[in-house]
Amino acid sequence: MAGLYKCESCRKIVRVIYEGKGELVCCGQAMNSLDAFNSVEEILDFAVEKEEEAYRFYTEWAEKLDKSPVRKHFEDFAKEELKHKDKLLQVRRGNTLKPSPQKVADLKIADYLVDVPPTPGVNYQRALIIAMQREKASFNLYNNLATLADDEGLRTTFLALAQEEAKHKLALERIYDEEILTEN
Ligand SMILES: [Fe+2]
Ligand SMILES: [Fe+2]
Repeated sequence: MAGLYKCESCRKIVRVIYEGKGELVCCGQAMNSLDAFNSVEEILDFAVEKEEEAYRFYTEWAEKLDKSPVRKHFEDFAKEELKHKDKLLQVRRGNTLKPSPQKVADLKIADYLVDVPPTPGVNYQRALIIAMQREKASFNLYNNLATLADDEGLRTTFLALAQEEAKHKLALERIYDEEILTEN
């Protein structure tokens, strides 16, 4: 049991490593258990949040990498993550995704969370590693969302999103090899 809890107000997510009796409170309210998604809407909201985070991450790092050739890549990634977010919002509005409750419950949130959020303090090497992990998590999330879709068009959409995240991860690996490994 992962024991994850989320504050709906500030979006903080905490992991319980030793269970006690008390209630977890953040921003003045009880935190919500995050062990399983409760609905398709929740999954899509989660994915939207991850896309927003990815967008912010690439935008921030593009600015920091002022004269680096990597800057352009990160700017492109940022744009693509925004497009992903729009796609998800479209899907959410269309609301044609109607999987069984069991299928929804089978998607474990912990599988798609990367332990370290994109914080400003991390160095470039660490940022690249986190970004690769996050892209992998997104890839898995979209592949699994594709299995929830009864509709062929929607399945294609999710698989296409998964492919784009896979491409991001591959590009990051290349950047890591060229920028970090050749430096050391
Ligand atoms: Fe994305
Ligand atoms: Fe991505």
